[in-house]
Amino acid sequence: MADAIIEVVPMDELPLIVELYNQIFRPSKDIESFRRRYLGRYNILQMVARVEEKPVGFFLGFELKPTTFFAWFYGVSPDYRRQGIASQLMEAAHSWAKSHEYEVMRLECHNQHRPLLHLAIVLGYNVVGIRWDADRTDNLVLFEKYLDD
Ligand SMILES: CC(C)(COP(=O)(O)OP(=O)(O)OC[C@H]1O[C@@H](n2cnc3c(N)ncnc32)[C@H](O)[C@@H]1OP(=O)(O)O)[C@@H](O)C(=O)NCCC(=O)NCCS
Repeated sequence: MADAIIEVVPMDELPLIVELYNQIFRPSKDIESFRRRYLGRYNILQMVARVEEKPVGFFLGFELKPTTFFAWFYGVSPDYRRQGIASQLMEAAHSWAKSHEYEVMRLECHNQHRPLLHLAIVLGYNVVGIRWDADRTDNLVLFEKYLDD
């Protein structure tokens, strides 16, 4: 286990989050696309996981509706996977959301993101549906977890 330090980081740390995003996901995104998506969002949560000071993972989320918090993006650098870091990030996000009066956490995941499908099941999420993602022309699996479970 890596025993990462998980920190909630302020808006001015968005460049670090975008750097981590671009190490983990393709196609890459620029900071403006994140700023655009943040417009009008309530309770944006940015968290970074560090191992020996090095940023190795991140979580980004915001309110979907008053009862439900949405885990938008999160990931862990390839060299640090399977050490419990995403679980630590998600557990920190669950506690933050619970302490901010949310009842449910929602995730969405493409079928090809197998590690995330595994992680969601291990963390106690239920499949609650699918929706068509017109941008990626693929289905997204919708997961939710009651934060009291
Ligand atoms: C999905 C992801 C965040 C998991 O991060 P991680 O730090 O490796 O996850 P954890 O170590 O906390 O895994 C916890 C459990 O989830 C399951 N799991 C995680 N990755 C898995 C994999 N590749 N295959 C099978 N099970 C997996 C396992 O049960 C694991 O426990 P174990 O290692 O004791 O068997 C990481 O693989 C990643 O960043 N992937 C690319 C980005 C992504 O798809 N993000 C989500 C969409 S927004």
